[in-house]
Amino acid sequence: MFETLQDLPQDPILGLMAAYRADSNPHKVDLGVGVYRNDAGATPVLRAVKEAERQLALDEDTKAYLPQMGDPVFNRTIVDLVFSADHAAVTEQRVRSVQTPGGCGALRIGAEVIKRSRPDARVWVSNPTWPNHIPLIGGTGLEFKEYPYYDHASRRIDFDAMLAALQQAQAGDVVLLHGCCHNPSGADLSQDQWREITSLADRIGFIPFIDTAYQGLGEGLQEDAFGMRWMAANLPEVLVASSCSKNFGLYRERTGAIIFVAAQPDQAARTQSQAAHAARQIYSMPPAHGALIAGAILDSDELRATWEAELTEMRDRINGVRRLLVEKLNANRAGVDFDFIQQQRGMFSFLGVTPEQLQQLRKQYGIYMADSTRFNVAGVNSGNIDYLVKSVLEVLSA
Ligand code: LMR
Repeated sequence: MFETLQDLPQDPILGLMAAYRADSNPHKVDLGVGVYRNDAGATPVLRAVKEAERQLALDEDTKAYLPQMGDPVFNRTIVDLVFSADHAAVTEQRVRSVQTPGGCGALRIGAEVIKRSRPDARVWVSNPTWPNHIPLIGGTGLEFKEYPYYDHASRRIDFDAMLAALQQAQAGDVVLLHGCCHNPSGADLSQDQWREITSLADRIGFIPFIDTAYQGLGEGLQEDAFGMRWMAANLPEVLVASSCSKNFGLYRERTGAIIFVAAQPDQAARTQSQAAHAARQIYSMPPAHGALIAGAILDSDELRATWEAELTEMRDRINGVRRLLVEKLNANRAGVDFDFIQQQRGMFSFLGVTPEQLQQLRKQYGIYMADSTRFNVAGVNSGNIDYLVKSVLEVLSA
C-alpha cells in the first residue's frame, strides 16, 4: 500500500520553520510562522498559564474523558470572552459552544456542520486568506467562492470590490471573515465596514463564519470583538471559530471552540449536538489540558487580570514594533512608503517585495518570511531590527 504514495511538498508556513532551522547564517531572522515572540526572541509560557497549571496540577484528580462538548467552564467562559456575558444572544440562550482542538478543529467542525445542514452552501473566502482555511474547510467537500479583500497596489482593503463580490452571494451561503488581525494582511475592517457587511448579510441571507485567532492582539479584547458582537446582535445566525493559541500562548495545547449563534435556543442546542457528533467521527473529543487552563484563567478575577496585563504587553510590543519599523524604513529612501505597516494590526503584514527580492532576503540575508511576503511582526526585536531594515533597504535599492 504505502509504496504507491508520493512525498508531498512541505506546508508553506510550517516548512519555513525547518528551512530557518537548517540555515547556518548567524544573523538569520525568523519572520515565518505566527508565534508571538518577546524582545529576546522567546515565546515564554504566560505567567497566568503557569499559575493556572500549578493549581491544576494540585487539584486535578482524574484524567477521565471530558464531556463530549468539552469542558463546561471553558465553553461558558470562551463564549463570554467572544460575545460578553450580557450580549443579547447569550442571555437569550441562542449561543452554544463545542470545545475543539485549536482554531483549526473549530474551523473544520464548523464546516462539517454547514455541510450537514446545507451541502450546497458556497463558502466565500477573502483573497488573500490564511492558506490552511482552504484544506480545513474544503476537506468537507464544500464549494469555495472568493471575494477581493487586500489590494496589494494600494496596500489596503478594497472594500468596494469586496462588497460588489459579496452582493453575488446567495441566501444560505457562508462568508468567512477574520474577526481581527487579518491573516495574512493585517488589514482589518473598520466598524462602519462591519456594519455594512452585516446589513448585506441581513438583506441577502448569507451566514457569517468568523475566524478569531487574535482577539486582544489588535486593539484590545473588547475592540477586537466588535465585528463578532455586532453581527451576533443583528443577524439570526453566526458561526465563530475561536482559538486560544496566540492570545493565551497555548499553541501546542490545541485549544479552541466552535461557537454557534442560532435564531432560537432549541436550534442552537441541536446545532451543538451535530457538532459534537461530527467531532466524534473525526477525533472523538478534545484534549483537556489547554481548555482547563484557559477556562480557569477566564473564570478567576485574579488570573484574568494577570492574563489581560500580559496580553496588553504583547499587543503593545507588536504595535510598538510596527511604529519603529515604519520610522526606520521610512527614514531611508527606498521609494516605498511603509506607513501601511503602522495602520495594520496583529502579527502579520505583507512586506510587498517581489518574489526575487524575497528569495534574496532568504538566501543572502537569512531572513525568512512566507512566499506571499507575509512577515511575523512579533519576530522583529531590538536585536534584529536594524539588520532587517538594512537588508530590506539594500534589496529594494539593488
Ligand atoms: C500562521 O498563520 O503562521 C499560524 O496560524 C500557524 C499556522 O498553523 O499556520
